Amino acid sequence: MIDKAKLVAIDHRHAWHPYTPMDRWLGDPDPTVIVRAQGSWLETIEGERLFDGNSSWWVASLGHGHPRLLKVLAEQAATLDHCAFGGLTHEHGALLAEELVAVAPAGLTRVFYTDNGSTSVEVAVKMAVQAQRQWGRPKKTRFVALEGAFHGDSVGAASLGGVEVYRRPFAGILFDCVRVPSPGEVGEDGKTGHESAFAALAKVLANEADSIAAVVVEPMVQGAAGMLTYDARYLQELAAACRAADVLLVFDEVFSGYGRTGPMWAGQHAGVTPDLMCLGKAFASLLPMGATLATEKVFDAFRGDPANAFYYGHTFCGHPLGAALAREVLRIYRDEDVLGQVARKSKRIAATMTEIGELPGVLSTRALGMIGAADLGRGGYLGGLGGRVCAEARKRGAYLRPLGDTVYICPPLITTDEELEHFLGVLVDSVKAAG
Ligand SMILES: Cc1ncc(COP(=O)(O)O)c(C=O)c1O
Repeated sequence: MIDKAKLVAIDHRHAWHPYTPMDRWLGDPDPTVIVRAQGSWLETIEGERLFDGNSSWWVASLGHGHPRLLKVLAEQAATLDHCAFGGLTHEHGALLAEELVAVAPAGLTRVFYTDNGSTSVEVAVKMAVQAQRQWGRPKKTRFVALEGAFHGDSVGAASLGGVEVYRRPFAGILFDCVRVPSPGEVGEDGKTGHESAFAALAKVLANEADSIAAVVVEPMVQGAAGMLTYDARYLQELAAACRAADVLLVFDEVFSGYGRTGPMWAGQHAGVTPDLMCLGKAFASLLPMGATLATEKVFDAFRGDPANAFYYGHTFCGHPLGAALAREVLRIYRDEDVLGQVARKSKRIAATMTEIGELPGVLSTRALGMIGAADLGRGGYLGGLGGRVCAEARKRGAYLRPLGDTVYICPPLITTDEELEHFLGVLVDSVKAAG
């Protein structure tokens, strides 16, 4: 094993870290170095165990090193490591599509594979515009998205994004988006404003539907906005309004899918099937892969004349390793009753967030499924209050990342009851210590 000081020196000399003010990183002589992970735990180079409180950027819903996933990965690598999905098919690519359709909201019958969350959204953007064009509505090229939205970092996905700090550097190259209020924004009265948010959206659809291709939302919870949760009625009203205005509805389930909010898909809270649904993160658990699911109606828009085809696809689209893993992920969800586990554990998270809401300095808290969040200030993404709690948690053996003045948790869904109890205790102690 390489010596820590040497490794950090090389990292500081050459590596450029994501979402990281690099002067701050370079000024830290003793950053955390992870050498292995198992279950809900990361292990540092010093041998310290850290609870993975955000599932390593919301990915490790099945934890780390799941033996069934490791076995599938090794077997698949030895059998068929890679082949293109354009003009060819393979067992896992075809069967995964069938299995996804079987668990997806009824009506989503087509699966287009992608590389990650951003490309799933990018695909939805392009499919929506091209479908509208091929339905004879070429003027429908604009998108509606929420304040505080996050849909990924490619230029198309970032254009939908509503977090100002992420948008500002790219002003001028992002496409214009109709921005509407978030239904999760907490008002002065401590309540979320889904009714006034919906009224604003309805007005846009009433006046501008002729130019709008689709509305794109993170259903039930806006992750990067600070885990802002909102009422399922917003999604129901949104779906009805989109139908009435002939505007496509896109659910970005990259974060909220795979049981993170309770049911398999967050849209199920509202009983709504979107026209397009974007997946990523937990999809293949330990390799980057995602998919965009579409209805037969959308799919049909791309048939007929070869010029109507969807001329899009990344090199690793539908790769056999990821597809084999993604199939095993679905089997593990079934065999280990992962959603049943979430139903039980989410009650403990909700109770703890209520308890944290009573602590001095905490403005508001919320919980949904395996997500909990506490607002400690109103400083937005660049606020430092969430970071203080994360630093306290780090001292107590848990890894968290803040969203500005908000601290949130998003543990692996397979965390044991005992581990969850321990982690929630660490969280309470850390909020108290930072207060
Ligand atoms: C809702 C949502 N959509 C899209 C993305 C982008 O996913 P990726 O980072 O895999 O491109 C994210 C990432 O956090 C996300 O939370």
